[in-house]
Amino acid sequence: MQWKNTVTDLLRIDYPIVQAPMLGVSTPEMVAAVSNAGGLGSLPVGGLSATVVADLIQKTRALTHKPFAVNLFAHSIPAVNEQEYLDMQEFLYQFAIKRQLSFTKQPVSSLQFFTWEEQIDILINEKIPVVSFTFGILSDEAIARLKNNGTILIGTATSLKEAQLLADKGIDIITAQGIEAGGHRGTFLHDDEIPVIGLMSLIPEIVDAVKKPVLAAGGIMDGKALRAAFLLGAKGVQAGSAFIACNESSASPSHKKQLINATDTDIILTKNITGRWARGIRNEIMRQVEQSALTVPPYPYQIPLTIFARNAGQKAGNEDLMVIWAGQSAFKAKTKSAEEIFATLVQEAEAI
Ligand SMILES: Cc1cc2nc3c(=O)[nH]c(=O)nc-3n(C[C@H](O)[C@H](O)[C@H](O)COP(=O)(O)O)c2cc1C
Repeated sequence: MQWKNTVTDLLRIDYPIVQAPMLGVSTPEMVAAVSNAGGLGSLPVGGLSATVVADLIQKTRALTHKPFAVNLFAHSIPAVNEQEYLDMQEFLYQFAIKRQLSFTKQPVSSLQFFTWEEQIDILINEKIPVVSFTFGILSDEAIARLKNNGTILIGTATSLKEAQLLADKGIDIITAQGIEAGGHRGTFLHDDEIPVIGLMSLIPEIVDAVKKPVLAAGGIMDGKALRAAFLLGAKGVQAGSAFIACNESSASPSHKKQLINATDTDIILTKNITGRWARGIRNEIMRQVEQSALTVPPYPYQIPLTIFARNAGQKAGNEDLMVIWAGQSAFKAKTKSAEEIFATLVQEAEAI
């Protein structure tokens, strides 16, 4: 298999295989393992403070001299309807009390969110070689600053319209995120009517219309899927769920177990946990919020309201509360080192 192409040239890597940024799961160890193996590791920093971002970059740099990406959430914080926030808070408070979980009520005015604008100076100063982003597009000014600094930019598209906008703004590589993908939808141009386009349709649609190399994201768990994405015109892949259960992941043993035991129909799209559509394993808190028929406050306001359950679930390994973001093929994940998972992907693709 011919691995060298425009993506490997732009990113200065050996294989056009990107470990997807996965906030809450990816660690500097995971990122470094994939970059050291010749792929591109991605360090997710969406919503983290500048101090934490700097610390994670240092930790990653200590483990690899190879290029890696830092991944941003390129959205702005919307206004929230305070009454909707309070109604949801009261509902989740009652949910917590019934299960003897602690829940601290917080007024909207006390919430603090960190945005990509507060992180960008660090990326410039650190001369980060690759910056990827999702949930939107960086400002023209930020794009120009990063490009002048020699940074390669990767944007996420879930429709042709988004891919065209990214290309028009000079973004170097486009990640086509199919509906199969785990975690949050990167959608940013379609309001609440999110596109639900599978990779089989999305890759050729974007490849044929947009003159930028495309990375395929969603359901890439083995060499067969990788080869299929290349046949459809992708110049690389971005695999997330394939790495969730790896040794370097911060997912707990029970998180990994539930991921592997999940069936295809257990994995659903929901916006009940964060206010943004995301794919993960269906659980009790998702169901209860659904049944409440309350309006879910927009991302990121719903996050502090559901965090009690995620923390308690994680601690107790309780699947009713734990939030496990996962792609449609996530049950194929393997509990091996990231290096082994990466090497298997390469070998399987070469063997076809
Ligand atoms: C647990 C998890 C967390 C994720 N977090 C991020 C993130 O922080 N930034 C991002 O751009 N994409 C994130 N994603 C989406 C991935 O970039 C990618 O689109 C997805 O994993 C591809 O589908 P797959 O999981 O089937 O491989 C996340 C996905 C998962 C499964």
